[in-house]
Amino acid sequence: TVEMRELLLSRIRDVADYPKPGVLFKDITPLLADPAAFTVLTDALAELCVTHGATKVVGLEARGFILAAPVAVRAGVGFIPVRKAGKLPGATLSQAYELEYGTAEIEIHAEDIGADDRVMVIDDVLATGGTAEASLELIRRAGAEVAGVAILMELGFLGGRTRLEPSLRGAPLEALITL
Ligand code: PRP
Ligand code: MG
Repeated sequence: TVEMRELLLSRIRDVADYPKPGVLFKDITPLLADPAAFTVLTDALAELCVTHGATKVVGLEARGFILAAPVAVRAGVGFIPVRKAGKLPGATLSQAYELEYGTAEIEIHAEDIGADDRVMVIDDVLATGGTAEASLELIRRAGAEVAGVAILMELGFLGGRTRLEPSLRGAPLEALITL
């Protein structure tokens, strides 16, 4: 709803020139600190999981963890961490992706999801779409189906939706707020 978007937006703080000059950083910590707003956010994302038939949620380290864990509990589905490389102890699948400068790598425990799962990816921000795109690759390589991608905030001017489109293969990209 419009009211929900306004509440969420009012709790996101703009920080100029962070982490570097010219970047306007979207800080979600005021939203997390407000129990009413955090509950509204959790409920909205959990509803998307139910609507799209998710059996698991994947949270993208680090900020995606904060959102995806309560969503998993609320939706009654499992939580699966996708971590930056080198942090998971078991057998992992890895996926490299492009950053503005250089590359990064994320990993998932291969045995955590499988052919019976429909997985919803949850994160705070969709910017260039690189992180989300790599996570979809991991989910498919693990043999699971993608239920969708649910994001608090889409930075539309960065073109993440267009980049993600082929990887979605018809699955929904849901953003609660688009800037
Ligand atoms: C940020 C944000 C998203 C990602 C979006 O994570 O939380 O995960 O960037 O960017 P993209 O669409 O261009 O890939 P980041 O890895 O910077 O930091 P975090 O560990 O605090 O989540
Ligand atoms: Mg992140």
